[in-house]
Amino acid sequence: MAKIRKAVFPVAGLGTRFLPATKASPKEMLPIVDKPLIQYAAEEAEAGGVDQLVFITGRSKRSIEDHFDVAYELEHELEDAGKHKLLDIVRNVLPSNASCIYVRQSEALGLGHAVLCAKPVVGDEPFAILLADDLIRTSGKGVVEQMSDVYERYGCSVLSVQEVPREETNKYGIVQVEKGPDGEMRVVSIVEKPAPADAPSNLAVVGRYVLTPRIFEKLEQTPKGAGGEIQLTDAISALLEDEPVIAYPFEGKRYDCGSKLGYLEATVEFGLAHPELGESFSAYLRNFQALNA
Ligand code: G1P
Repeated sequence: MAKIRKAVFPVAGLGTRFLPATKASPKEMLPIVDKPLIQYAAEEAEAGGVDQLVFITGRSKRSIEDHFDVAYELEHELEDAGKHKLLDIVRNVLPSNASCIYVRQSEALGLGHAVLCAKPVVGDEPFAILLADDLIRTSGKGVVEQMSDVYERYGCSVLSVQEVPREETNKYGIVQVEKGPDGEMRVVSIVEKPAPADAPSNLAVVGRYVLTPRIFEKLEQTPKGAGGEIQLTDAISALLEDEPVIAYPFEGKRYDCGSKLGYLEATVEFGLAHPELGESFSAYLRNFQALNA
């Protein structure tokens, strides 16, 4: 069975929730402690066996290309100054066997349309999709690797899912599932951002997908849906008519870095887990709490 070697990163969104920070720079470049969100996603994909990273970009996204490119002047300066540790950090943003491909999405027609833009690059292979503002911290394998394992076992598309509070179903793609012969969750239906009263469950799709290439056929036939956008969810719903799709409750903690609160939570928890900062940041927080109690 084909391995997952390609990952698509839709990064053309406007990031209006973080204005003015995202006026001239992409939301995917917002840092959690010292690394931009997009780098966490790229590292997770690489750890899962991906060596071709396909970025679907738009206006004001140049810094993402620069981030994954060689920075000659900076590297020279760090080398001349003997700052080898920093030099390593700059050079290792991307492993040498990985390649980046950039596809420009000139119109913001939605997530489904962004994914369809990757068709000429992905071709006839299964592939992963990562939405960088869903940051997921795991204790073992990253989520792409977990999902690749599921794909290799069942040979069909896999959606990462998590339970959300009922009142939040209108923020997500929501799936209805039934148990398969192996105890796995088979998707029966999927709907984009249903009102809590209409939601078939509280099981939400978060920003990781492994899809078979048949999704492109479906996307080509998908009309505009919720919010006037071409929805990936609608194409997955059409895919269900032809192929099984598995809902996979991943191991890990997800931070919704598309929201300010989620972003702050990630900053605090990644700060506390940071090898250099963790201890002093924890001391600071204890002190801060004691002073403000
Ligand atoms: C997108 C998808 C939605 C999914 C969500 C995960 O929505 O359309 O189905 O549940 O990502 O984060 P967005 O957050 O871009 O509105």
